[in-house]
Amino acid sequence: MENNEKKRILSMYQCTGTFTLGNYLGALRNHIRFQDEGYQCVYALADLHAITVRQEPANLRKYTLEAYAFLLAMGLDLDKTIFFIQSHVPEHSQLAWVLNCYTQFGELSRMTQFKDKSAKHADNINAGLFTYPCLMAADILLYQADYVPVGADQKQHVEIARDIAERFNGLYSPTFTVPEPIIPQHGARVMSLQNPLSKMSKSDENQNGNISVLDDPDTIMRKFKRAVTDSESCVRYAEEKPGVKNLMEIYSCITGKAMDEIEKEFEGKGYGDFKPAVAEAVIGELRPIQERFRELLADKGYLRGCCRENAEKAHAIAQRTLSKVMKKVGYLPL
Ligand code: TRP
Repeated sequence: MENNEKKRILSMYQCTGTFTLGNYLGALRNHIRFQDEGYQCVYALADLHAITVRQEPANLRKYTLEAYAFLLAMGLDLDKTIFFIQSHVPEHSQLAWVLNCYTQFGELSRMTQFKDKSAKHADNINAGLFTYPCLMAADILLYQADYVPVGADQKQHVEIARDIAERFNGLYSPTFTVPEPIIPQHGARVMSLQNPLSKMSKSDENQNGNISVLDDPDTIMRKFKRAVTDSESCVRYAEEKPGVKNLMEIYSCITGKAMDEIEKEFEGKGYGDFKPAVAEAVIGELRPIQERFRELLADKGYLRGCCRENAEKAHAIAQRTLSKVMKKVGYLPL
């Protein structure tokens, strides 16, 4: 297939901390696979979105570069995929402003993430937090994306992007591709190791609950050994055993084994055998990526070159969409 016939997939990632095993298994690993499945992928780090919550400048810089290196270490191929940093491409902010004016206060007020985040950060309910979905719509619409792979928590944001696109297209003439959310099939939903009823999260107060993709083998082993399970001590996949279910899903996701195979493998054995086996699988999966990550991070010049080249590629596409929008809205050309 020629590049211009390929369907385009777009996604972006928050880079306010180190990715967790949940980000890795639930999203990143699946998204990177799309590049070999006949899609044109456009991926970016959403550092503009990051400051809707206060960030330490040095940390934001560090996490952004690390996240960039990490995706390359995972095998993101810059010959196939465009991968850039959102703040390097000014069209995102520019289109976001325009889209702000085509989005209603009422629509934004209904966003569940806004409601959750304003409850969590009651001391900083800033306008950016409120208009966050307009910036995200700009991210998607600038690239005329066909599909946006997202977790359930972001689906509402893709839907509002569709509404904004349809509204704008209807008011003027077809300008934006109307994107569709897709939930990848193999996207495991990894839960906290300490509280298996809530999602694994970078911001979890209990650091034993989350595995960072940069954790060393001893740390990974220790966290899995401490994982909350139940008193049955039998490796069985069941809703009423959320801790074990979560560990089985992680193990299955990495080894490709089905649940009944895993049950058989650990028949007659307890969690004392199962937990270290899961840890070993995770350690084995992450080891080569961590090695490549360290090599890449040692070569800042190379990383900066990649960032620059990809920001230029992204800018070339984004610029075409933005100039159409400006013309349709009625801005006087310079
Ligand atoms: N809001 C997304 C998240 O928190 C990140 C994001 C920003 C995004 N822009 C996007 C995701 C565009 C998909 C498409 O995970």
